[in-house]
Formats: sequence, C-alpha cells, structure tokens
Amino acid sequence: QTVIEEQVDGFCFANGVTETEHGGLGGYTNVVNEVGSSIHWAVNAANAGVYELKIRYALGATDARPGELTVNQIGQQTFDFNPTTAWTDWQYESMNVMLKQGDNSIELSSLIAVGLGNVDSLTI
Ligand code: GCU
Repeated sequence: QTVIEEQVDGFCFANGVTETEHGGLGGYTNVVNEVGSSIHWAVNAANAGVYELKIRYALGATDARPGELTVNQIGQQTFDFNPTTAWTDWQYESMNVMLKQGDNSIELSSLIAVGLGNVDSLTI
C-alpha cells in the first residue's frame, strides 16, 4: 500500500452544488439527494499499486449513507459514510484502491435516495 498524503485539487465533475455554510476547507460538495449522484476526480499515479484514499466529509443525518467507489469505470467497493453527528463535524473515511500508472478516474456515487455526505476533499 502506498500512502502519499497529497490532497487532490478540485474535482472534474459533480452533480450537486459547492457550499460553504457548514465550514469545510474553502467549500465542499453537496450532491443532489438521489441515487447515482456522483463526484469525479482525476488522479495521476506515479506507479501502479494499492493506494489509500481518504475522503473528508460531514454527515449530520442520523443514518449512514452508502456509496460506491468506481476506479477507471470499474466498481471497486461499496462503503458507508457514517454519521459525524453534525454537518459541521468533518471526519475521514478511508479505503484502499488499486490505481494504474498514469491517469486514473475516481468516482464516488450514491446508492440511496438521500445522496452522499457532504464531501470536502480527497487525499491520496
Ligand atoms: C441539510 C444540510 C446539507 C446536506 C443535506 C443532506 O440540508 O444543510 O448540507 O447536504 O441536509 O441531507 O444531504
């Protein structure tokens, strides 16, 4: 596993809005509350391998929100955004992914009608 600890700048696409009302690092993404809402990033990896992805998010709702992580158009895993107790309480969800050498597309998508947690950043 490779831990680079570099924040991926911005995102390529998200069906939602950028908000600032609950804090976050200069704005976060609030996706549309529906199944399939997603955020896409492009990540360049120096070497192929397993990388740790850390998503900084907040979820002030009482129930976990499941999402799916897709890398290079292939679904890799599902995960839960667990409640963080408040929309202003930012925490990390970590997962390992296989990246290829060079450019990779990373997509987080919602599996339920209430969408995802609010997503602040992706760090690899
Ligand atoms: C509230 C909150 C939003 C959040 C939304 C949700 O409206 O202010 O930031 O995204 O709930 O349930 O997804």
